[in-house]
Amino acid sequence: MSPRPSAIRGVTITGTGMYVPERVMTNFDLAKLVDTNDEWVVERTGIRERRIAAPEQASSDLALIACQRALAMAKVDPKDVDQIILATTTPDRILPSCACTLQQKLGATRAAAYDVFAACTGFVFGMGMARGLIGAGVADTVLVVGVETLSRIVDYTDRNTCVLFGDGAGAAVFQACGPDEGLHAIDMHSDGELGEVLEVPAGISRNPASAGTVEAREHFIRMQGKKLFPFAVRSMEDSVRKCCDAAGWVPTDLDLLIPHQANLRIIEAIRERLAVSSDKVYVNIDRFGNTSSASIPIALDECVRSGRLKKGDKLGFAAFGGGATWGGSVMTWSLPAYVATESEVFAAKGAHA
Ligand SMILES: CC(C)(COP(=O)(O)OP(=O)(O)OC[C@H]1O[C@@H](n2cnc3c(N)ncnc32)[C@H](O)[C@@H]1OP(=O)(O)O)[C@@H](O)C(=O)NCCC(=O)NCCS
Repeated sequence: MSPRPSAIRGVTITGTGMYVPERVMTNFDLAKLVDTNDEWVVERTGIRERRIAAPEQASSDLALIACQRALAMAKVDPKDVDQIILATTTPDRILPSCACTLQQKLGATRAAAYDVFAACTGFVFGMGMARGLIGAGVADTVLVVGVETLSRIVDYTDRNTCVLFGDGAGAAVFQACGPDEGLHAIDMHSDGELGEVLEVPAGISRNPASAGTVEAREHFIRMQGKKLFPFAVRSMEDSVRKCCDAAGWVPTDLDLLIPHQANLRIIEAIRERLAVSSDKVYVNIDRFGNTSSASIPIALDECVRSGRLKKGDKLGFAAFGGGATWGGSVMTWSLPAYVATESEVFAAKGAHA
């Protein structure tokens, strides 16, 4: 827990962007692959559909579009980005980092670029790092992107996991701001004791890839969902409370809470415990499933571009994930309500035509 010391610079978000692949996979599509059905998935998770990357799309391709949109909103040239923090569990390759591949595609030639592996909490950890870097004067502009192509590590023969996850990318530009706006508190935690609750057993140093690991399906996600559920609720509730406390707020002061989208029942349980009303908790899990490190920045960009956020709003974030990791943050939103560009209005009209 680290409330903002008065000596460091304030840090805020000046632009957001998201991208999800075009291909939609519904629960009905999944029911053709495994023994499941739409009713079970909707009732137990809230998910109706998720996006799946095209075969030629890797994580850096998804991240590129989200980052270009975020930089355009912030009116920042890629060459003026000081650092790129890319949160993911599904980099293009293990070497080089996905962030370096993204840097090259983006033309952010001055930026230091590196990956953060913190599973679904990755974007919140990236926020914490951006705040530290900018607050201390190490960087002026930090691009944080959460991106996943989880469909590449999901076992589509395992109904316990394959219904949950989807692909996508979300990004935000962080820059310095005045003392009363921007990020007020960040909460970041890990507990390696819970490592086996959510894991990909093989592929790197512990259990290198072999014909045996492929045959045993050890390159796919394995999850003990029942153990994660109560941990998710407790940890996210705790982070929101701690961050609000550090900001001198109570959870009901929040105008909007953006929780990690893992399961609608988890989100609902947190909402009830915090006594926050439904209209103040953002949910899009029905359309995208769990996109891990991308879920919070995707949700944030949707809130921004739909005009849901206005200057002065009190905004909270909370996440948990494999590792285990968890955390949260609270901020005062510092941008005026977003006005859609002509092309965005045109695209929206086209979508409803
Ligand atoms: C995974 C999760 C949705 C399972 O929901 P649940 O209510 O705990 O369901 P259970 O695991 O108790 O399963 C209940 C039954 O449904 C079955 N089931 C599991 N997946 C199913 C599916 N996709 N379709 C149909 N039935 C399914 C189970 O086999 C079980 O059947 P049984 O009683 O005959 O053994 C839930 O535990 C969860 O969301 N946990 C958190 C996971 C998470 O967030 N992971 C990401 C971390 S970032």
